Amino acid sequence: MSVPTRVNTVITALSLTFSLAITSAAASESTLTASLIQDVEQRQAAFSQIEKQQKQIDKALGNSSTDWSQLEVLSADLTVNSASLQHLFVQGSQLDSKAKDKVWDDNIQFKAALDKMNNSFIKMDSAIQQQDKNTAKDALKQANNTCRNCHRQYRSRW
Ligand code: HEC
Repeated sequence: MSVPTRVNTVITALSLTFSLAITSAAASESTLTASLIQDVEQRQAAFSQIEKQQKQIDKALGNSSTDWSQLEVLSADLTVNSASLQHLFVQGSQLDSKAKDKVWDDNIQFKAALDKMNNSFIKMDSAIQQQDKNTAKDALKQANNTCRNCHRQYRSRW
């Protein structure tokens, strides 16, 4: 192999390695972006579900003849949705989101506010399992008191 040919071969090999590295970096970056967008969609879906289930539970608890098995199912679903939120506010997932920067700038306080809601729903869930209507109602009220306060601080209106 003449010297120029060898140099050429090395250059070709190097540039191939280099372009492969770029391609895989771009691929992992777009996977990351996709998963951040997915986080936004998942948390918005979780909040919408919570809003709906919370109303259904409120209505069911208001009935004089209580359907405890229906309540147990609704409450179990809501609790799963509520718990899922703790993993869905990943740093950087603001794109197409209504979450304010403050969610991440004041992350300790934000997480505490999320925990407050979540703990009230957990309390409601155990009360429902024990068929304790008054405690369930109180815990639901406590959970619903957290919505507006957190939105005012951490959710933009447009
Ligand atoms: C700890 C803060 C916090 C609490 C507590 C909270 N939210 Fe939210 N909520 C947010 C943030 C932040 C968003 C914006 C999410 C996004 O767009 O990424 C949001 C969005 C929503 C949305 C809009 C979903 C969409 O499709 O845009 C609904 C509905 C909602 N919340 C309902 C509730 C209800 C009901 C409660 C109380 C039971 C509640 N939230 C409690 C922070 C909170």
